[in-house]
Amino acid sequence: MDKLTVRDADVAGKRVFVRVDFNVPLEDGKVTDDSRIRASLPTIRYLLGQGARVILASHLGRPDGKVQDGLRLRPVAERLTMLLGRNVPVTGDALGVGTVDAVKRLRNGEALLLENLRFHAEEEKNDPEFAKQLASYADVYVNDAFGTAHRAHASTVGIAKLLPPYAGFLMEREIAVLSRLLEDPARPFAAIVGGAKVSGKLKVLDNLVNKVDVLVLGGGMANTFLLAQGTSVGKSLAEHDMVDEARRVLAAAEKAGVKVILPIDVVVAKEVTRGTEYKTIPAEKVLASWHIVDIGKETLGRMQDALADARTVFWNGPLGVFEIPSFAHGTKAIARFLASRADDGATVVVGGGDSIAAIQQQGLAERFTHISTGGGASLEFLEGRELPGVAVLQDRPADDTEPTGSKSRGKTEATPAGAGRGGRA
Ligand code: 3PG
Repeated sequence: MDKLTVRDADVAGKRVFVRVDFNVPLEDGKVTDDSRIRASLPTIRYLLGQGARVILASHLGRPDGKVQDGLRLRPVAERLTMLLGRNVPVTGDALGVGTVDAVKRLRNGEALLLENLRFHAEEEKNDPEFAKQLASYADVYVNDAFGTAHRAHASTVGIAKLLPPYAGFLMEREIAVLSRLLEDPARPFAAIVGGAKVSGKLKVLDNLVNKVDVLVLGGGMANTFLLAQGTSVGKSLAEHDMVDEARRVLAAAEKAGVKVILPIDVVVAKEVTRGTEYKTIPAEKVLASWHIVDIGKETLGRMQDALADARTVFWNGPLGVFEIPSFAHGTKAIARFLASRADDGATVVVGGGDSIAAIQQQGLAERFTHISTGGGASLEFLEGRELPGVAVLQDRPADDTEPTGSKSRGKTEATPAGAGRGGRA
């Protein structure tokens, strides 16, 4: 799947609508993690450098079509202004005469940010009239919002049918890295899938079980797999109605010759709270009143052995109750181990909030091959689905090796976000 990118577009002096995913965490009106903003900087810098007039647009949170002051994009615009070293004003609304005027006043090499698109219910409904109004601001459309590419919204799909649509560098990078996992991974290829529930990740497990050589299961979802193997899990989080599905995944893995690693020892706690009593025991000895909250040391060792010669690893989801520090050891240890695998030249790709937090908290991010900016989007991609926001972008013609209509290839200072190891923007 090769899409035309900003390099292929003639953007000098043009108005370019750039959908970014600036859905970032805020606390007391300040951005607490600006990774997603940084990840789109190469695209923004490139367009500004080409003399485009850049109209940035994003959602923030889920305001359900109503204005919520706590979800205004001003803090994001301030952080972007700081990172770019040039002023990026934010409009008072995504629509309206003031915004139309602000867009008209934009000069070549200037950018503005539209206010939160989801203050309008029409955005999530992919309303054609709303898409038309957004499209009226620009001549060219660029989608760099990989994290939102699994949503068929006005700014990700509707508008892309009204303006010539191109992928930004971040979008390009995410598609390239994740496609490689599915199509041509260096082997052995291992997936580590954790997190609370099997149900949310069943489709990705179904797809990955036919692609990987090793499947490591942890977190709450592993409890459902333990149940499927006939092991009691006490009061642990588990989905009893998913046990048959878990059994089906295990059977598919066996048939495909995939090595499956499940916990053999676990940390159990009296309650899933801070300060509670906890201990490590064999996985088959969990008593009725205890909760599994992390993997034990033997399991960690087994996982590390299974991953030791992997040339490609994809990781999504924590291996324990990551938000409680005493139960985050397994997740953090895997993060450190994977960083060392990446140092040794393995391709290590990570998606999902808690896994990324475990990496960032330990200052390991630069060592990973790629940290996806899309949690839900990367999982849907790895389910083998074509994401609506990707599907609408223009395919590169099969015989086209050079960008069409571009005078810029090779001249850009911008590099694709996250290009190369440790190359996250
Ligand atoms: C995300 O954070 O996963 C994306 O920005 C999409 O947000 P959404 O789940 O609210 O659509």
